[in-house]
Amino acid sequence: MELFEAIHGRQTISKVKQDFVPREMIEKILSAAVQAPNHHKVRPWRFVVLTGDGRKKLGDVMAASFLDRNPATPPEGLEKTRSLPLRAPVVIAVGVDKPAEAKVIEIENISAVSAAGMNILLAVRALGLGAIWRTGEWARDAKVKEFLGFAADQYIVGFIYIGYPEVFPEPYVRQGFEDRVTWME
Ligand SMILES: Cc1cc2nc3c(=O)[nH]c(=O)nc-3n(C[C@H](O)[C@H](O)[C@H](O)COP(=O)(O)O)c2cc1C
Repeated sequence: MELFEAIHGRQTISKVKQDFVPREMIEKILSAAVQAPNHHKVRPWRFVVLTGDGRKKLGDVMAASFLDRNPATPPEGLEKTRSLPLRAPVVIAVGVDKPAEAKVIEIENISAVSAAGMNILLAVRALGLGAIWRTGEWARDAKVKEFLGFAADQYIVGFIYIGYPEVFPEPYVRQGFEDRVTWME
């Protein structure tokens, strides 16, 4: 797929099929992710790939965390939360390493990991898959972070839900850059 076609044609696809996504495709996506630039070559990205029961375990952790915060919730009230990670066959949690040396600055690590996230979205598109980048409260949830192996103060920039598209959104043209740029000549 031509690069500009992938960039301009990319749209969030939230409704995907449960069909199995081959591991080689996921690896191709991750390989694209790590082509992102990063300062000091620290490779600050961490990916946790959740498929199959891995997604169910994440859902259980989310439900337990919700119950901690809302102790009066009846069991059936937890099912929606529990099922959130099942919305796609593949969920990639994308985390950011904390800087380990003084010269490494956290915002730069976050920027690099965000660039990796964008590479994921473009690779997904080029492979004919669909994706949505989600954050919400779960990207900041202490229990979720612990389950995924992240430290409490580590950032999760997103959960990228991936699968074969079920519903294609109406194509749309985004607003241009013109009102967001200052030219200095
Ligand atoms: C950092 C980040 C966090 C996002 N979090 C959510 C989210 O929690 N829920 C959601 O529905 N979409 C989320 N999105 C997706 C945006 O809503 C989506 O990209 C936006 O609607 C633009 O649509 P497009 O991707 O088709 O251009 C997030 C996107 C980014 C970059």
